[in-house]
Amino acid sequence: MMLTDNQKSTLVQAAANARQRAYAPYSKYPVGAAVLGASGRIYTAANVENAAYPLAICAERAAIVKAISEGERKFTAIAVVSSNGGSPCGSCRQVMAEFGLDTRVLIATAMGAILRESTVEELLPGAFGPQDLPPGE
Ligand code: THU
Repeated sequence: MMLTDNQKSTLVQAAANARQRAYAPYSKYPVGAAVLGASGRIYTAANVENAAYPLAICAERAAIVKAISEGERKFTAIAVVSSNGGSPCGSCRQVMAEFGLDTRVLIATAMGAILRESTVEELLPGAFGPQDLPPGE
């Protein structure tokens, strides 16, 4: 689905606001994410780190978990905001892929500049998916 410029900036702004609430005392790299659901609702989250470092949860996965938990199953777009417009990690790409390869991904800076726009499929070609699970397993 095509996104209007207004939808894009609303989503990026929502992600930038969520980024302000990041808990990232270890990396000092706050990230915000915002998911636009097919219903039109927006779900936001930030990264949440832990003193046990590997337990950090990325902003993107937190936002997706929020959306799914609220009953949203189809995502039109997801915006990811960081200081420098960093790229979503492999784990987040895989979790995005579970809910649709056509979801648009906007990668933006905290200033709101969109550095890259793509689909989940472009970020994770050949993703493992439900089709890879043999029937009956
Ligand atoms: N992080 C995210 O939340 N999303 C990304 O796309 C990249 C990385 C978080 C994980 C960790 O809290 C911090 O950024 C540094 O890796």
